[in-house]
Amino acid sequence: MTTLTQDDKKRAVARKAIDFVPDNALIGVGTGSTVNFFIDELARIKGRIDGCVSSSDASTARLKAHGIPVFELTNIGELPVYIDGADEINHSLHRIKGGGGALTREKIVAASAQEFICIADEAKYVAKLGTFPVAVEVIPMARSLVARELVHLGGHPEWRQGFVTDNGNLILDVHNLEILKPVEMETAINQIPGVVCCGIFARQHAHVLLLGTDSGVKEIR
Ligand code: A5P
Repeated sequence: MTTLTQDDKKRAVARKAIDFVPDNALIGVGTGSTVNFFIDELARIKGRIDGCVSSSDASTARLKAHGIPVFELTNIGELPVYIDGADEINHSLHRIKGGGGALTREKIVAASAQEFICIADEAKYVAKLGTFPVAVEVIPMARSLVARELVHLGGHPEWRQGFVTDNGNLILDVHNLEILKPVEMETAINQIPGVVCCGIFARQHAHVLLLGTDSGVKEIR
């Protein structure tokens, strides 16, 4: 069996994701290095889509650089499909996202789509979420309050210093959270005053996982 690099696997899932792109539609596009490969693949077939709705300034810039039209979500109805990566994904297709800090817009665009296609290399596929820290986007004045509440939930929050989200907020990366029940943990973090969004994506699970492995792309539902 050939040993592929992590980038080879990201490129392979990005290419496979094109099979899930419908003609003459607007496509929801995530953020991150795997999605960057996907945007490059999308550029090859840009004539058969109407354009994209983007989840970050970074993805918007890359899409526009390829000449792919980008539309504001607020002016659009439901999207047929949203394609994005993950930092971790479990066997129920719950995810941790937000390593790039784009979690809030990612969750908004994902919630606007009928189908969530997750593209990831096999290093991201885990039995239990939580080794990767959970990003939490926080209104600046609530940073200390939220951090204390996250400690009560069993985590070790760390302020991502020098980082401001596309929405003008801060990120706390929460280490060592015991995520036995992802849906319940997502809900508990969301309810802390001052939290804009948390990087556990479990209340809405992915519909399809395209997983890049040494033996090719596996489709998991
Ligand atoms: C961005 O905020 C994240 O949610 C990314 O989707 C996630 O970090 C995956 O990124 P990579 O594809 O770069 O691993």
